[in-house]
Amino acid sequence: MSRKILVTSALPYANGAIHLGHLVEYIQTDIWVRYQKMAGNECWYVCADDTHGTPIMLRAEKEGITPEQLIARVHGEHSRDFAGFNVGFDNYYSTHSDETRACADDIYLKLRAAGLIETRTIEQYYDPLKQLFLPDRFIKGECPKCGAKDQYGDNCESCGAAYAPTDLKDPYSAISGAKPELRTSEHYFFKLSDPRCEAFLRQYTSRENGVLQNEAANKMQEWLGTPGDNKLTDWDISRDAPYFGFEIPDAPGKYYYVWLDAPIGYMGSFRNLCGKNGLDFDEYFKPDSKTELYHFIGKDILYFHALFWPAELQHAGYRTPTKIFAHGFLTVDGAKMSKSRGTFITAQSYLDTGLNPEWLRYYYAAKLSASMEDIDLNLEDFCARVNSDLVGKYVNIASRSAGFIAKRFNGQLAPAAAELPAIKAIQDAAGRIADLYETREFAKAMREIMLLADAANQYVDSVRPWELAKKEGMEVELHAACSNALNLFRLLSILLKPVLPMVAAQVEKFLNIAPLIWADTGSLLAAGHVINTYEHLMTRVDPKLIVNLVEANKESLAPTPEAISPQRHAEHQQHEVKAESTWEPFCDINDFMKVDLRIVRIANAEHVEGADKLVRLTLDVGNNETRNIFAGIKSAYDPALLIGRMTVMVANLAPRKMKFGISEGMVLAASDGEGKTPGIFLLSPDTGAQPGMRVK
Ligand code: MSP
Ligand code: ZN
Repeated sequence: MSRKILVTSALPYANGAIHLGHLVEYIQTDIWVRYQKMAGNECWYVCADDTHGTPIMLRAEKEGITPEQLIARVHGEHSRDFAGFNVGFDNYYSTHSDETRACADDIYLKLRAAGLIETRTIEQYYDPLKQLFLPDRFIKGECPKCGAKDQYGDNCESCGAAYAPTDLKDPYSAISGAKPELRTSEHYFFKLSDPRCEAFLRQYTSRENGVLQNEAANKMQEWLGTPGDNKLTDWDISRDAPYFGFEIPDAPGKYYYVWLDAPIGYMGSFRNLCGKNGLDFDEYFKPDSKTELYHFIGKDILYFHALFWPAELQHAGYRTPTKIFAHGFLTVDGAKMSKSRGTFITAQSYLDTGLNPEWLRYYYAAKLSASMEDIDLNLEDFCARVNSDLVGKYVNIASRSAGFIAKRFNGQLAPAAAELPAIKAIQDAAGRIADLYETREFAKAMREIMLLADAANQYVDSVRPWELAKKEGMEVELHAACSNALNLFRLLSILLKPVLPMVAAQVEKFLNIAPLIWADTGSLLAAGHVINTYEHLMTRVDPKLIVNLVEANKESLAPTPEAISPQRHAEHQQHEVKAESTWEPFCDINDFMKVDLRIVRIANAEHVEGADKLVRLTLDVGNNETRNIFAGIKSAYDPALLIGRMTVMVANLAPRKMKFGISEGMVLAASDGEGKTPGIFLLSPDTGAQPGMRVK
């Protein structure tokens, strides 16, 4: 029986551009949804812009437009970016909508009727110039712990301390620079500390209940405290005018805090979809619903989705999410995305540079798992992976066989050899790969699919259609070889379709077949079936495009003007430069011990034809073993002078295929990372160290 599934991705804020970090989430969700649809389930994917709050209000003011104008423009930009990456929402809506307002009021009033809303007077910083209460992020000052200047009101970026804005020394408004005053105001609270919420959340977020990934469930236990020691605190859900949002019923001048109506935006978007296509909203949101509800989110917003949101739904008489899937953060070349390095890459710049969106979809798929671990976009690896897997292994199968079918057999296929091991292998694997999609183990799925593609290529290599084509009287063999190859290609296309929807559509056109679904893995193309002419499906990544992409995203270090008071301008600029070279977070000794560092002797070193940065090194690693590596040290070292020298290598780095051959590790060298001090400095051990010795 087909399942009924409602899926969401987090709602992006309506005051910024979509970047490659965001896309991890939207691509992950989209792959999952496309798989569900191919598997024959009824699956709806909704999202929206998150449009409310002070930052959006101020941003509009700065641009001299109304918040409504700003969010309308951004809605267009976001919709365009998502479409550009083939993220196939069934509805992309806005939290600034009648549906979201109606759902928010409904939930709020039900929580109030249940005795879970309370008012309290609180003291808060107020900007007397700008005449508004300041959110924590708009108050800056000196860190009470370490004294770092210009730190935000909630935590210190320099020492990591968390505190209240009232703890800051010398606070100032980040909007006007004015000294803020403490003022009192009445706020509305959701009583998360209520025993009913606590009891529900203990059960709901427990490992046994299975709604959360284990790592997330563990985090929840920390946040909840041990039974008998309730750590939950009430949640402030109101903000004072002026605020861009929805006014709270019976509370003039008080607005819902943006995080109150944001998740409700999921409901609002779905309600809007129901209005358009006749779906039954209640079937999906009533307490005993048989449908499934999944939220894909980043790990940074777990608190909102695993605590506040289910507690609200539960006590307002709605169903709660079936599962919450949190993913990790994107790093680029191993570091946080950075505007100065050009690795804070916007979705638009990627598309404008002429990079194929399905390259990124594949690369992310090849990296994603069901865990909350961060994922790294390594730009060099990106080129290598896409070129070797997608072009070299997958597309290659079709491009090597389609031409002969067209030229020699009028586009008609011979019967497929159903018993061919490479064909049977794919059909046998289809169920396993389906499970890997279902459980969000996309990296494992891609690995399996590429192994199957290897087997398909081995088949083509063994029958050698290009040689058969030159021989007399080998028509039948040639016809069979190419027909089998195209059947293999079709089967692989089904397995890759959730990741590569655009390529799949071209394949369907080229093979002249109906849109592929998962069940099609059980069948083969019929004898006599006529295909259309093959048109090139995908080109290789030109590394020049990557250089252009990084260039296009490089920004000078000028700080964003709205966040800084004039008198602090100079200091702030300095601070920003320093922040670029902060230390990596702690790792424990076990993490460090995973890296196998060894003393090596450079047995040989030579220039690499055609490479302007690389030197090929043959390393003596002890025990009469050698390793070949490519090191990017040509600018600093003459190969002839390296021979015989001792240094340190990472010996257990997975071998990597590069343009010039396989690199089996790397040697350690120092540099300032930003190219300000020119030079690369290879490490050397003290005299006496021998090749093969471990370094720790
Ligand atoms: N508006 C809130 C979400 C409200 S959901 C009811 C928000 N918006 S956001 O634009 O900051 O982020 C949207 C999603 O993108 C979040 O799930 C966030 O975790 C994810 N990502 C933003 N930057 C990211 C990376 N660098 N890497 C991976 N995901 C990232 O939060
Ligand atoms: Zn500090």
